[in-house]
Amino acid sequence: MNRSDVLYYPEVDSTNKALREYLHAAPEGFTIVAGKQTAGRGRMGRSFISPAGGLYMSVLLKPEKDSFSLITSAAAVAVTQVIAEKFGMPCGIKWVNDIIKDGKKVCGILAESVFDGGEKPAAVILGIGINLISPEGGFDKEIKDIATDLGIYLTADEKIDLAAEISGRILELYPRPESFVKEYREKSVVIGKEIYVIRGAEKTSATAVDIDDECGLIVDYGSKTEVLRTGEISVRVK
Ligand code: BTN
Repeated sequence: MNRSDVLYYPEVDSTNKALREYLHAAPEGFTIVAGKQTAGRGRMGRSFISPAGGLYMSVLLKPEKDSFSLITSAAAVAVTQVIAEKFGMPCGIKWVNDIIKDGKKVCGILAESVFDGGEKPAAVILGIGINLISPEGGFDKEIKDIATDLGIYLTADEKIDLAAEISGRILELYPRPESFVKEYREKSVVIGKEIYVIRGAEKTSATAVDIDDECGLIVDYGSKTEVLRTGEISVRVK
């Protein structure tokens, strides 16, 4: 993808929020990148701590069908491919879409649908936050045990290039599940693991059995199996 489709802000509240202003004016693939975020948003209404040193980006998608788990899974594969190609670092994927290096999270992905009155969303805003290099003094105490970084410093210009590459890869992959589902499954760090399925305050023990062709997670509770389409899990036994 072309760098001219990427807009860079040194600092913004949230790139996902900023991209909403461009919903109708911008084409699919238009990307906003920020050097840091003051109010980064995470999944499940959580915040996403976004200090300088990370890459925070949001891509505008206008899908025919908004299959959330497929869009976010395509993004997870795209990020791992680009990180492997550019930096030679293999990463895994923790369902649904956390990117994992050495057992810790290096990247989170948040897709948000935007409706403008129609039945179908007008667009999907796909936000990606990658910990390139940890802030001086390390990550905040809330995340230091679960987060890691790639250990790579990038200038603003290099972040724009990296974001353009990731966005381009997402545009190639997401409309064609057959182009990435096998790789998503192969990169899974949860298949075969003992996990908890988390629903609000409730945690249910299960085994992650496999990933289906829509990137749903097949879990076995012992007495029954279920396919999770979205949600949250944690790995009990690594
Ligand atoms: C998660 O792991 O909970 C998802 C985190 C998504 C963070 C990215 S950073 C760029 C974009 N803008 C946001 O406010 N959030 C996403």
